[in-house]
Amino acid sequence: MSEKHLPDPNDPQAWSRYVEDFRLSAHSSVEWIAAYLGNIRAIPVLPTMRPGELVDALPAHAPEQGESFETILADFQSKILPAVTQWNHPGFMAYFGTSASTPGILAELLIAAMNTNGLHWKTSPAVAELEQVALGWLREWLTLPPEFFGIIYDTASTSTMHALICAREFAQPETREEGYHGNLVVYTSDQAHSSVEKGAMAVGIGQKNVRKVPSDAEFRMKTDVLRSLIEADLRAGLQPACIVATIGTTSSTSVDPVAECAALAEEFNLWLHVDCAYAGPCALLPECAAHFKGIERAHSIVPNPHKWLMTQMDLSAFYTRKPHILRQALSLVPEYLRASEDPRAVHLMDYGVPLGHRFRSLKLWFILRYFGRDGVMEFLRRHNQFAREFAGWVDADERFERIAPVPFSVVCFRLKGSDELNKAVIEKVNTSGSTFLSHTALNGQFVIRIAIGNIATGLGDVELAWKLILDAAEEERQTNK
Ligand SMILES: Cc1ncc(COP(=O)(O)O)c(C=O)c1O
Repeated sequence: MSEKHLPDPNDPQAWSRYVEDFRLSAHSSVEWIAAYLGNIRAIPVLPTMRPGELVDALPAHAPEQGESFETILADFQSKILPAVTQWNHPGFMAYFGTSASTPGILAELLIAAMNTNGLHWKTSPAVAELEQVALGWLREWLTLPPEFFGIIYDTASTSTMHALICAREFAQPETREEGYHGNLVVYTSDQAHSSVEKGAMAVGIGQKNVRKVPSDAEFRMKTDVLRSLIEADLRAGLQPACIVATIGTTSSTSVDPVAECAALAEEFNLWLHVDCAYAGPCALLPECAAHFKGIERAHSIVPNPHKWLMTQMDLSAFYTRKPHILRQALSLVPEYLRASEDPRAVHLMDYGVPLGHRFRSLKLWFILRYFGRDGVMEFLRRHNQFAREFAGWVDADERFERIAPVPFSVVCFRLKGSDELNKAVIEKVNTSGSTFLSHTALNGQFVIRIAIGNIATGLGDVELAWKLILDAAEEERQTNK
């Protein structure tokens, strides 16, 4: 049914009707969200659909006349929801788990309602200042020194790209004006996330100038090889510029020796960036302190609250103790954006490629306050404990082998046998609707990965995942007899 919704700004009653229409639908949307979260286990974690099915189910053209919220929400429920992979599901144990916590949902609603944009301080003082407060709180929890300045970007990939911009500025400040002359080299481990290479592609350093330093038997960067690569590049007339170390690599959550990387960065005057997009929150836990040794010597750091800190996409925290380098690289102020020169007025547009700046910090601020340090610590410890229990089950079953240590909440393992066998097991588990696992490659082999990180995940969900794996393995064994 078509409806005219655009309010006439000169007609106060029309505006009231517009707002009232929102109020009614907002109530039913919130009821829907509460029912959805309350019954999340009943929804299949993975959609069962063919590529293109949703496109085919929706009209090819947008409507000429407006439609009611009721119709739109009904279509959301019947057509969109079945095509959604449920990252909120307690059985979502693929990639890195994440959670749409309730304070985050409410903050997103308020952020969307205010639609404020913090380009520079005056365009929204709250955006500029709350970001410093929320990131200051998080910095303290992560035990980073106060000189680390924080800014929120959308994703860790963007944060790491900004780290590479800083590294380029640090090594070749003339680039900003003259363009890039080449010659810079970035070092990261062969286990680093692809965003490092992508960042190097994006900022002009180029893939061939990213050295993938081999890792040891526990998937940690070999710093003796790192040193010899740096020395060889110097001899070849290249300019080593940046080391990217990872705490919690994507495949196995291994931890690079950050303190050793810091020593090399200091010796050769390189930028050190630490990617702890996933594992960063564990810096809160005293029992994990050893994994973060040396992190304070990094020039920049990225933890992603939207991975393991109960924060909805998208919220990546970028910290640097050399904000003037970031600013030097990217600040550009045309007349129409000229703003206060008060030193306390932070202009976020000076510290990144984007001009517009979402009020993401409100979401982080809600979440940190709602759960508190104790709640966050318990959340992380729970997941680390589940992972240790799961690793124990794998270790105790001689049909399986564990492929990597378990410093955090991910276990990498495989069924002894072919890659095809392991692929078949994952496929079977993932058709269950109750568990979703993903894979990786380690030592050239296909490896099953279980990643625990959702607020709704209980030990029972982890036990169920193990049971499904055992059942699938047994079925495969029977079929292949
Ligand atoms: C260690 C690490 N760094 C960076 C990223 C990229 O994260 P984002 O999706 O926020 O760009 C990931 C994604 O899983 C990751 O595991």
